[in-house]
Amino acid sequence: MPVSKKKACIIAVCGKGGVGKTSISAMIVKILSANPGNKVLAIDADPAVGLASALGILVHKTVDDIRNDLIRRVQHGTSEDKTQILSRLDYEMFSALAETKNLAFLAIGRPEKDGCYCQVNHMLKDIIASLADNFDYVVIDGEAGIEQVNRRVMEKVTHLILVSDPSAKGLNVVKTIKEVSDSVVAYEKHGLILNRVRGESEFNQIKMPDELVSLGWIPEDNAIRSFDMDGRSILELENSPAMDAVKNCLDIALS
Ligand SMILES: Nc1ncnc2c1ncn2[C@@H]1O[C@H](COP(=O)(O)OP(=O)(O)OP(=O)(O)O)[C@@H](O)[C@H]1O
Ligand SMILES: [Mg+2]
Repeated sequence: MPVSKKKACIIAVCGKGGVGKTSISAMIVKILSANPGNKVLAIDADPAVGLASALGILVHKTVDDIRNDLIRRVQHGTSEDKTQILSRLDYEMFSALAETKNLAFLAIGRPEKDGCYCQVNHMLKDIIASLADNFDYVVIDGEAGIEQVNRRVMEKVTHLILVSDPSAKGLNVVKTIKEVSDSVVAYEKHGLILNRVRGESEFNQIKMPDELVSLGWIPEDNAIRSFDMDGRSILELENSPAMDAVKNCLDIALS
């Protein structure tokens, strides 16, 4: 795989449960990978592997499977030294990537438990970071909430995209995520996308938190629901109102 000189743009999509993180992540992946010049890595950081289904990808191995294999080997007293372990991890990580043309996909699996197997977790973090260097864009579909924000992948985020529905609860969660992220993530830009908004007048009535930059809003779109219900890949979704709106929000986020 050729190594790109440019620093990868690492986009994390976060928000309360059920607000549309996976749908928006999948649309971002679709928009970015539509340009054959872009090399895109989609990372599913949700143990329920929602992004894999939204992109129609079958997961054979997760980062967590690789981590558990390594822990087992270490517990059984592997004779490999650190360099050998690292190169094996590197190889296994590449083999866990599901790749098609200019789009690769990696599922994290279960979130790490803090405090245990720190060395293994650090090695994985470094490998994910070096993997990101091979891509122009990395899109991370985060888990709901913030407590579980997966630091292995979040640390290197450059663009934090917060998603909320118009509810006060959803907006409170993104405010908290932004506060917590400010202390753990060295991101360059953040922005809020309001999803499932029923028109401009509803959008204008929503009290946006002052500390959050708005990227715009996504309408309620039946195509998104029906693709989800039929288990169809968002990669097959051609122009739809939600997709057009995500494109506008993404343009602002990346400008
Ligand atoms: N703009 C939209 N218009 C219509 N339906 C939408 C829209 N965005 C998301 N949905 C629907 O809302 C539901 C939740 O969306 P999604 O799975 O993307 O949310 P999520 O934040 O990833 O949820 P979770 O926290 O469970 O991972 C899905 O059924 C999806 O099809
Ligand atoms: Mg999801």
